[in-house]
Amino acid sequence: MSTTVLEGKNIVRDYHIGGGLFTGPRTVHAVKGVSFKVDKGKTLAIVGESGCGKSTLARIITLIDPATAGDLFIDGNKVDIVRNPLTKEMRRKVQIVFQNPYGSLNPRQKIGDVLGEPLLINTDKSAAERRDLAMKMLKKVGLGHEHYNRYPHMFSGGQRQRIAIARALMLNPSLLVLDEPVSALDLSVQAQVLNLLADLQDEFQLTYVFISHDLSVVRYIADDVMVMYFGEAVEYGSRDEVFADPKHSYTRTLFAATPRADVASIKARLAKKKAA
Ligand SMILES: Nc1ncnc2c1ncn2[C@@H]1O[C@H](COP(=O)(O)OP(=O)(O)O)[C@@H](O)[C@H]1O
Ligand SMILES: [Mg+2]
Repeated sequence: MSTTVLEGKNIVRDYHIGGGLFTGPRTVHAVKGVSFKVDKGKTLAIVGESGCGKSTLARIITLIDPATAGDLFIDGNKVDIVRNPLTKEMRRKVQIVFQNPYGSLNPRQKIGDVLGEPLLINTDKSAAERRDLAMKMLKKVGLGHEHYNRYPHMFSGGQRQRIAIARALMLNPSLLVLDEPVSALDLSVQAQVLNLLADLQDEFQLTYVFISHDLSVVRYIADDVMVMYFGEAVEYGSRDEVFADPKHSYTRTLFAATPRADVASIKARLAKKKAA
């Protein structure tokens, strides 16, 4: 039996841009009525070129920004995305990882405190418990106890993204939204972080919304794929369906472009996993 963790219905977001000296006010229709559904332990990939509305949708799903219209359900509960009052429970349930982990990490905060902070704000756990949980999470994302007292600048890009993922998981969320999480990393590091995300998903039955413009990454990580084009979902289905028979002309153009990720090392891992 599959459980639906996330469901969006006809989500719309307009941005109203105030007029300047020579231009009148205008409206950008960033997201034009998008619907989707993600079951527990699965990954929905959202793919499309820059400006098609992916990050806008990510911010709506994670309740950072309000929607203009539409319905959202998380763990079957309706969330008011238009009025958007962020409750403590929802802050715990939905987490986001951005493309640039350095921008989202406080340079003056030690990693141990970065990981302990969500617990400090949202739970009653003692300092000792927070430390213990942070240490455990460091290990889960492939870092060690020795990293606990270090600052963000002492890490590589890939390690910083591991830290951002660790922080996102501290509150045991239902849903993780990843907005271009590996796009700023070197190819070999991309593969490592993708493998980590796949392992964490298996271990914790995590549900992902994974945003990317890179189809080789999407092909590896996705169960379902939604292709966005100028704010609309022009294609939506299982990964195999969408890749085997892209319906929309934009998707066919997109698929004709060269993939970037380190497919060889990703394939090697999949083979290893199958053998195990
Ligand atoms: N805060 C904002 N104010 C006005 N327009 C915005 C804002 N954020 C995004 N947009 C516009 O909405 C559209 C979608 O942007 P975005 O969601 O960032 O796309 P993507 O993440 O796919 O690159 C773009 O036309 C962008 O310029
Ligand atoms: Mg974006």
